[in-house]
Amino acid sequence: MYRKLLFAGMLVLSLSTCKQGIDKETYTKFQTRGNEVTNLAQGTLLAKVGSAIQQGGPEYAVEFCNLKAGNIVDSLNQVYNCTISRVSEKNRNPENELKDKIDEDIWRAFSTNNQSDTLLVGKNNFVYYKRINTAMPACLKCHGNPETDITAATKEKLMTLYPNDLAVGYKLNEFRGLWKVEFMP
Ligand code: HEC
Repeated sequence: MYRKLLFAGMLVLSLSTCKQGIDKETYTKFQTRGNEVTNLAQGTLLAKVGSAIQQGGPEYAVEFCNLKAGNIVDSLNQVYNCTISRVSEKNRNPENELKDKIDEDIWRAFSTNNQSDTLLVGKNNFVYYKRINTAMPACLKCHGNPETDITAATKEKLMTLYPNDLAVGYKLNEFRGLWKVEFMP
């Protein structure tokens, strides 16, 4: 029943897409851009966090996971004329919560299927979403089982910086969050 509602919702979304007369070419263009810019953001973030882990362990690397740290997304936002963020239902940083009904609907859809990305067409903008899974064992050093995967020092650091942290208890390859890229055409 619930699934049916969800698919009906997706259908309405795609119908309204047609109504606004967005052609396949534009759709593909923004979907491709979204994929590109999130790959670049993710690559930069992983490289920074990876080298920080090597330098000082996960407790030291905690501070390198924020997108604002080291201007990771600032220049990408400018080059691609977009706003990049990450959102999650079980967010660590309070700023990364699901922001509205659309975020929530997309979240539910991505939780029940294995979809990797989607592009929504708004009145004046495009919003690209892409799945983030805990795809590497390293993710669990900060998002895994607090008893077995996360060291005491890392837990302490996380508790100090993120007292309302919801982002623990994950296993490998679980749905962890969404990249969200808002384009202003
Ligand atoms: C060294 C610790 C550490 C590692 C390793 C790590 N994360 Fe995180 N993660 C964090 C911290 C800290 C935040 C909060 C960042 C902020 O302030 O925006 C975060 C935030 C996130 C968010 C944004 C939503 C939220 O909860 O605020 C996602 C998505 C995410 N991590 C996924 C991953 C994935 C996938 C991996 C593995 C590839 C990973 N993380 C590895 C520490 C880590």
